[in-house]
Amino acid sequence: MTKRILSGMQPTNNLHLGNYLGALKNWVALQEQDFEAFYMVADLHAITAPYDETKLAQASREVAAAYIAAGVDINKSCVFVQSAVRLHSDLNWLFSSIAQLGKLDRMTQFKEKSGKNSERAPLGLYAYPVLMAADIMLYHATHVPVGDDQRQHLELTRDIASSFNHKYKTEFFPVPEAVIVGAATRVMSLRDGTKKMSKSEESDNSRINMTDDADTIASKIKKAKTDPEPLPDTAEALKARPEADNLVNIYAALSEETKAAVLARFAGKQFSAFKPALADLTIAKLAPINTRYRELLNDTAELDNILRKGAEKARAVGVPILEKTYDIMGFWRGARGG
Ligand code: TYM
Repeated sequence: MTKRILSGMQPTNNLHLGNYLGALKNWVALQEQDFEAFYMVADLHAITAPYDETKLAQASREVAAAYIAAGVDINKSCVFVQSAVRLHSDLNWLFSSIAQLGKLDRMTQFKEKSGKNSERAPLGLYAYPVLMAADIMLYHATHVPVGDDQRQHLELTRDIASSFNHKYKTEFFPVPEAVIVGAATRVMSLRDGTKKMSKSEESDNSRINMTDDADTIASKIKKAKTDPEPLPDTAEALKARPEADNLVNIYAALSEETKAAVLARFAGKQFSAFKPALADLTIAKLAPINTRYRELLNDTAELDNILRKGAEKARAVGVPILEKTYDIMGFWRGARGG
């Protein structure tokens, strides 16, 4: 069976270091392996939260540009915008009759995002993981590289795949695996080591955006919350120190070393020594991405071309899978193609 990847990011605000280390960096690495990869801009997901419709299209271009700037190779991987391939919404509806409310009720991300106001939350925010399952299965993806916060959604996807196969006595949908790898699968806020680094967090100092310039990165890392102790010599000793642990994880992920190797170098050193080293490393890794990102965004016509071609390629793979799904589900098939 073809090994296929699908993953995506929402075009809401800037991408940050968590998105890069938890997902994007791994996407780039996986291209060197034997996978056929589909990387989409998850704009249909972005409308489940308040957003500015005058900025959505450009935000989608920006996310696509960030993928390519970070190293996603358009000759190897398919880069496209989700809403340009309507098949996602079709399959979403079919899966809506497979997914069980009880399982959706358990999704912690809905609870976090809807907060106290869940009565007013849109249906889309609640049903969001079903669309995610459709995104993945429309391409028969077998592997889904994501950060740790998507683990539960991936479990639901696996559940929908198995339930579909069981209900229709088929093995049509592969049950996809989450690929959650690297030293920083859950990058935490720079202001609070117990909270995830997030696009929606109010304080910009809580995250490093992929588009931050060198001075901003250095200043954010300098201001990052830490504790007064020097760095320890074992990972074990970092467990009770979430802020310190986070910075070491970020360093290890960026330098592609183990945490133990990073600690061996910095054990006994104060943050006044570690932070500048971390800032230099972060700047060195993000600067070339930033330059390429700006170049790509300077040529919107070319970027749109890439995305049009990506959507065509995605459609070509998705159409027969969706058609077959209608067949399996027993629909009238007198006129194909919708
Ligand atoms: P999104 O846009 O919230 O995040 C994009 C990717 O970045 C990862 N990520 C993190 N990783 C480590 N530390 C963090 N602090 C951090 N914050 C975010 C996320 O795990 C994700 O991999 N629902 C998805 C988008 C999506 C999708 C899909 C993903 C839609 N359909 C199908 C995979 C397959 C989301 O909102 O990601």
